[in-house]
Amino acid sequence: MRLTLSARATLMISSAAMAIVLTSRPLRADGESLSRPQTSLSTGFRFTEQSGEQLFASSCQGCHMPDANGATGAGAYPSLAKDRNLEAAGYPVTVIVRGQKAMPPIGMMMSDDQVAAVVNYLRTHFGNEYSDAVTADDVKRVRP
Ligand code: HEC
Repeated sequence: MRLTLSARATLMISSAAMAIVLTSRPLRADGESLSRPQTSLSTGFRFTEQSGEQLFASSCQGCHMPDANGATGAGAYPSLAKDRNLEAAGYPVTVIVRGQKAMPPIGMMMSDDQVAAVVNYLRTHFGNEYSDAVTADDVKRVRP
C-alpha cells in the first residue's frame, strides 16, 4: 500500500502524539496512583501548630467541619463526633499518617508529636471520651 505524503505525515504526527501520551502515564503500573487520586500532597509543607486543638482547626476541620460532624457535598466527610471507630487509638493514627480512600495522609506534614496531639484532642472532644492517650512512639510505629 502506498501512502500519500500527507497521510504519512498524519501517521507520524499521531504516533508521536501517542508516544507522548504513553510516556506521560503514571509510572506505577499497579494503578495505585489512579485509584488514590486525592492522596498526593505537595511536599515540603509542615504544620507549625503544636496543640491538638490548633491542629484540628488548621488541618482537619476544613473537611470534617469545626464541630467534627462531617459533611456531604462534593464528597463525603464522615463525622468524627461520638465516633465509635476512634475507640482503638491506632485507627485514627493510621488514617492520619497513611491516608484512607479520599482522606489524604495529612500526618505526613506533621511530626509524630503533632499527630499524637491531634489524635488525643479528637479522642477526648466532640463527644468522644477515650482517655488512653497515644504517644509519639505510637505514631512512629505506624508511619509508612
Ligand atoms: C481533604 C479532606 C480531609 C482532611 C483535611 C481530613 N480528613 Fe479525615 N477523612 C476524610 C475522608 C473523605 C474520610 C473518609 C475516608 C474513608 O472513606 O474511609 C476521612 C476519615 C477520617 C477518619 C476515619 C473516621 C471513621 O469513623 O472511620 C478519621 C479518624 C479522620 N478522618 C480524622 C481526621 C483528622 C484528625 C484530620 C486532621 C488531622 C483529618 N481527618 C483531615 C477527609 C479529610
